[in-house]
Amino acid sequence: MSGYILAIDQGTTSTRAIVFDGEMKIIATGQKEFAQHFPQSGWVEHDPEEIWSTVLWSVKQALKKSALQAADITAIGITNQRETVVVWERDTGRPIHNAIVWQDRRTAAYCEKLKRLDLEKVFTKKTGLLLDPYFSGTKLSWMLANVKGARARAAKGELCFGTIDTFLIWRLTGGRSFVTDATNASRTLMYNIGSNEWDAELLKVLRVPEPMLPEVKDCAADFGVTDKKLFGAEIPILGVAGDQQAATIGNACFEPGMIKSTYGTGCFAVLNTGADMVRSKNRLLTTIAYRLDGKTTYALEGSIFIAGAAVQWLRDGIKVIGKAEHSGALAAEADPTQDVYMVPAFTGLGAPHWDAEARGAIFGLTRNSGPAEFARAALEAVCYQTRDLLDAMHKDWKSSDTDTVLRVDGGMVASDWTMQRLADILDAPVDRPAILETTALGAAWLAGQRAGIWPKQKAFARSWSRDTRFAPRMDEKTRNAKLKGWRDAVRRTLSKI
Ligand code: G3P
Repeated sequence: MSGYILAIDQGTTSTRAIVFDGEMKIIATGQKEFAQHFPQSGWVEHDPEEIWSTVLWSVKQALKKSALQAADITAIGITNQRETVVVWERDTGRPIHNAIVWQDRRTAAYCEKLKRLDLEKVFTKKTGLLLDPYFSGTKLSWMLANVKGARARAAKGELCFGTIDTFLIWRLTGGRSFVTDATNASRTLMYNIGSNEWDAELLKVLRVPEPMLPEVKDCAADFGVTDKKLFGAEIPILGVAGDQQAATIGNACFEPGMIKSTYGTGCFAVLNTGADMVRSKNRLLTTIAYRLDGKTTYALEGSIFIAGAAVQWLRDGIKVIGKAEHSGALAAEADPTQDVYMVPAFTGLGAPHWDAEARGAIFGLTRNSGPAEFARAALEAVCYQTRDLLDAMHKDWKSSDTDTVLRVDGGMVASDWTMQRLADILDAPVDRPAILETTALGAAWLAGQRAGIWPKQKAFARSWSRDTRFAPRMDEKTRNAKLKGWRDAVRRTLSKI
């Protein structure tokens, strides 16, 4: 088919713009990193203006590299880091504060207070989430309480709240569209995933005025057209999904029981549960996988805050590797007789522990431990954590272990060593797809099929293909001993032992 689709993937550490052709092949990419701000321990912020400038830069770069004009682009699909909060002035589009990033822990005490008021079950019932600082709602409350005059201005309709998708669409459309999609809304702690609306009772608890919230649309919908002044032509925005949901779509996990796990900054495993809103008894999240043609598909999600970020720490923090890609080769050299475990709770622990106060730890060091053992411990930690998530999913979803094939994506999956170790620790096959840009592909597919130039869902699912299947090779005794060591290390890391 003729026509091109542009995916904008606004992630936690960089922004990427990817041009796909009518055959769903990548023809050009623009990418730019941006600054991370840590104003206090446990706080993480981004400058929304810098994010916006990286979007403009990346789109222009991708267009230039593809030798296309904006007029050649049929539609845009947007995917984004989720839960990150931006508040801006409706009149000027100016943010009133830095974006508070999903990793930020500043509202831990506020979450505890809400829990003491016995409100967690109310939030969980309506939103599928837990009272953890990870989600947008308490971050927004913090901004309204701490930026002078914000609450009064918000009540008068002078301020807009958005996750990153909403902010970008506002800017891209020159302030004409104030919208989000159901997947991003489902991460805010304010959206009722059963009735599909902003929940008045929760807004009252969080003291958030409803006029500041965007309209919530399906993932494939008319989100507006870009301002002609930006790229030289108007381009319709036809697809939006949070990055983990976009990866679920890009990995074609459309059938109930299918699971994907994405290894970016963090690791997020998503199990499609179809039309069933499965309530987790094991501290997983119930969330919206996607909403298409008004029909909601739900998922169970396990969220781990640190995955690729542990490799970054090896490179930038303790400097035992020069490049992230070297971590697998270094881990392969580790001494098999040393049981070194790393629990990378740098920003607390996510599912299934949800311990905001836990901090990272390393166990089992000897005089012989060195860079290789650190690298192996960091990569194995990602594997063990995935195993914890899948164990919880199996308990909630009641399927047998043998059913599980995990589809993976994200930067870390390029490492064969890590993927083999993942299969070994999970005791289940791991499928690495042929197209590794799964998140961008998911967003592009939403827009491309809506525009009528890409295949519909079933044909798209059939087009998914794998590059490699990693089958488990580790013997059971070794695996069980390693899992025991890991669980022991986690137990010793939790803030409330
Ligand atoms: O929930 C946070 C998630 O959306 C961030 O994803 O890819 O930036 O690690 P990523």
